[in-house]
Amino acid sequence: MKKIAVFASGSGSNFQALVDAAKADQLSCEIALMVCDKPGAFAIERADKAGIPSLVISPKDCASKVDYEKQILQKLNESEVELIVLAGYMRLIGETLLSAYEGRIVNIHPSLLPSFPGKDAIGQAFQAKVMITGVTVHYVDEGMDTGPIIAQEAVKMDENETRESLEAKIHQVEHLLYPNVIQKLCSREK
Ligand code: GRF
Repeated sequence: MKKIAVFASGSGSNFQALVDAAKADQLSCEIALMVCDKPGAFAIERADKAGIPSLVISPKDCASKVDYEKQILQKLNESEVELIVLAGYMRLIGETLLSAYEGRIVNIHPSLLPSFPGKDAIGQAFQAKVMITGVTVHYVDEGMDTGPIIAQEAVKMDENETRESLEAKIHQVEHLLYPNVIQKLCSREK
């Protein structure tokens, strides 16, 4: 079975959706590792509860970004990880990981890219008063939310939509879409 690592920085609800899908036998891959750059993030608790090993490492404690990513890479290699799944990982992936995992890093972003890349995509879409926004899963390249798109799902903004209600709708879509896409990627031949 293919091994994947999930990278998270915060709450980790998308990580949890993947964990739940794996538990329900809806994912033909093993979540071998959770990598977190923020000590104290709730995602770490979720990993502990699910019995998934986590690597908690802050770039602040490393000599450089290269050194930070080299330490992650070593752990990924030890865990025989084949696919990196970014789920709320609030950092650009650097050259070290990009070259080691070329074409094997994916991300989920809460807008219909290329609209509203970067931080607070839900807030950006809400402020822009677009009628339709959504969720994108894409491959990761050196840019910010710029890699080739794998899947998208639209979310309609209702007339009385609040920022909070929009956020809840987007997360609901994310939690279904991401496990589905990861399942498809994992069930592909190498
Ligand atoms: C999600 O909206 C995801 O699309 C974005 O960051 C958020 C992470 O949420 N990249 P969570 O940590 O998975 O709850």
